Parts: sequence; structure tokens; C-alpha cells
Amino acid sequence: MPTHSCFARSLLAGAVSLCIIVIIILRFNESGFSPLPLARSPPSRSARILDDVFNQTLGFQKIFVINLPSRSDHRDAMSLAAAATGLQIEYVDGVTEVEEKALPPGGAEVHLNKGGLGNWRAHMNIARMIVEQNITSALVLEDDADWDLRIKSQMQDFARAAHILVQSKPGTSHQYLDPTWPQPSAGQSPQNFVVGEEVTAEPSTSPYGDIDRWDLFWLGHCGTRFPRATDINAPLGRAVLQDDETVPEKQHVKMQFGNDELIQEYPAHTRVVSRARMNTCTLGYGISLPGARRLLYELGVRKMTGTTDMMFRSLCDGVDERRIRTCLTVQPQLFQHHRPVGSKSTFSDISDHGSDYNEQAFSRNIRWSTRLNLGKLVDGETDYIDLFKDGEGSNDLGF
Ligand SMILES: *[C@@H]1O[C@H](CO)[C@@H](O)[C@H](O)[C@H]1NC(C)=O
Ligand SMILES: *[C@@H]1O[C@H](CO)[C@@H](O)[C@H](O)[C@H]1NC(C)=O
Repeated sequence: MPTHSCFARSLLAGAVSLCIIVIIILRFNESGFSPLPLARSPPSRSARILDDVFNQTLGFQKIFVINLPSRSDHRDAMSLAAAATGLQIEYVDGVTEVEEKALPPGGAEVHLNKGGLGNWRAHMNIARMIVEQNITSALVLEDDADWDLRIKSQMQDFARAAHILVQSKPGTSHQYLDPTWPQPSAGQSPQNFVVGEEVTAEPSTSPYGDIDRWDLFWLGHCGTRFPRATDINAPLGRAVLQDDETVPEKQHVKMQFGNDELIQEYPAHTRVVSRARMNTCTLGYGISLPGARRLLYELGVRKMTGTTDMMFRSLCDGVDERRIRTCLTVQPQLFQHHRPVGSKSTFSDISDHGSDYNEQAFSRNIRWSTRLNLGKLVDGETDYIDLFKDGEGSNDLGF
């Protein structure tokens, strides 16, 4: 009977739409934070692994935080910040004594101060632990690092961007999206890839792309610049995150030791992922197991050529007789130093920041700073402090 089959059809249609709605609601709840585009349903394996970024270790196997036991102030704030953002961290003691005899070749000649030597050793101890314990990937933070309350969705965006730059095109084995991979030819210009709703990821061993395709993600730094064709050795591709509300407007963005190409070339609220170039400060980085082996060999065993960040840089840039490694970075960065109220001399145990008084606590380029909002977070308040509001003049935070 025609009316009967018509009824059955609409019943079926109703059931199908109900199913779709249920799937959408389930996926929405799973990720917790809402502004991210939904993956195709049913989710592919690659989309599911991207959701691991929302776990307590941000999709890495571990998060390590370097802390000098004497800096209990840093540890107090770090533990609160991690708890407030759902992160599980493991502390690794900072180092105060390094025997000159224990330095790799070249070590005596670079004349690092005590703080510099201790910093080098702490980073080496973590790389060694990753190698010894066969840890697939880890996020390493120094204990004054700060991040946005939305770090999990930011890291998922970073993972989508990383896939574009380090994985080959789905269905091909060695064809990368970036036409300048593995090296640009003279005069080639960078191509921008807009990171969109399309899940570009092929199934991989880590949410950030197969661990044998990347060494280091330089996520917390004090400045970087985009690679250039004249650098010769690094692909130029840029993965662009548009309309990222967690990026401050241009007047607030501080590039520190980097240059201002990001501000000149892209609209406000844009974050860009590219190969790392000339990065400074080793405040926060993701590292793969192969990356940790290379780091430990190059900086711990083979040769000491400068400060810790100079040596990380030589590995990422492929200079100072080091082979270039696959390092990605992001502008503006996702982790930044937090500068609390107080004497600037307390800022670091590595370098001298003078003895001026800092009146306003801040973390450059981080809008919903976890550290600045700890007071709100412990009381469950959600009217978060944003030092970098749209349409407002820039705060003078110094260099
Ligand atoms: C988070 O995901 C990564 C990657 O899948 C995994 O190695 C790690 O164990 C997970 N962390 C937690 C706390 O479950
Ligand atoms: C290290 O882990 C990988 C998987 O991530 C495994 O295949 C390998 O056998 C492990 N090696 C050791 C020495 O445990």
C-alpha cells in the first residue's frame, strides 16, 4: 500500500536523523571544549587518534616538568596550573652541580655558567630518561611555563597543522603536501595551507603524526622566524590557523627575539605552524623517541657547542655541523614564560634579568593565562582575565 510504505520511509528517515544527532552529541561531549569542527562520523582511525590530544598528557605519553627543588614557588604554581587545566605532569629535578669532567667534547671551551650547565644537564637527563624508558613521545616544560586555559583545543589545532607538514598525502607513501619538501629550490616561495575541517591525518603512531616523521615541536620559545628559500635546507610550508580567538590582536603580539613577518603578512588572530628557524629559549617542546635519541647523541655525547637553546637550534636549523632535524614551531607560541609580580631577579636561575620590580604579572601572547587566572580557577569563576583584549591598546610589558 502506497501510504504504508510512505509512512515506513518517514519513520526510517526519522530514525536516521535521530542517530546522527546522537552521534553528534556524543562526540561533542567527548572532546569537552566546543569550538572545534567535528570530525566526519563515523570517526576514522586518524580522527580518533587526534582526540587523544584531549587526554591528560595532551596526546604525548608523558609530560615532564623541570623544577629545581629550591624553587618551591615555581612548583606550587605549576601544580595548580596543571590541575586547573586537567594535565598530569611528572617533575624532574633541575641540576645545580655539573662536573667539568662529565662534559662532552667541546664542553670546557664553551664556558657556560653554573646555571647554563645545570639547564643543559636537566634537558639531557630527560632525553636520557625517554631513551631508557622507551617513551614514544613527551612534552617537556620548564617550570615557569604558562599556557592558555584552552591549551587542549589549541594543541589539537597544532596537531592538525603538524599532520599537514609532516605526513605524506593520504594514500601515497612519500608525497608531501608541501611542494618545497624536502628542500626548496632557489626562489621558491612558501605555500600556505589553511587548516580546515578536513581531517588530513592518515592513521599514525601519535596524534601529531608518526613519530619517525618528526623530532621536535618547539611550542614554547622567545622568538623564531619563518624558514626562507635562502636557508636552502628546510621546507617552507606553513600551516595556517585562521580566526583563532586565542591569538591576541596584532598590537598585543610580542615577537621578542623573532621577527614580525607573522604580524605583517597575516590577518589578526592568525597562528602559523612552520619548520622551526632561529628559535630561542627551550621553555616547552614536544619530542619523539627518535628525536630524544638524536638530541642526547648530539648534545650529550657528540659535541657541546654553546648554550642549551643554541644547541637545540643548531639541530633544528641544521647548522654547526649538525644534520637538520624535523622541528616544527608555532607563532605566536603556545607556551610562554610567566612573569609574576616581584623582583625581576627571581625570573630565572639561568640568566640575569636585573633587579627591577615587575608590577604587573603577565605571560606574553597568552590570553587566558592559566597562571593569571589561578585565583579565579580555585573559586570556580569563569570571567577570566584577558590582558590582551581586542580593541584595547597594548600593555607595556617591556621587551
Ligand atoms: C594520551 O594519549 C597518548 C597518545 O595516544 C598516550 O600515549 C598516553 O598514554 C595518553 N595519556 C593518558 C594519561 O592516558
Ligand atoms: C619500545 O617501544 C616500541 C613500541 O613503541 C616497541 O616496539 C619496542 O619493542 C620497545 N623497545 C623496548 C626495548 O622495550
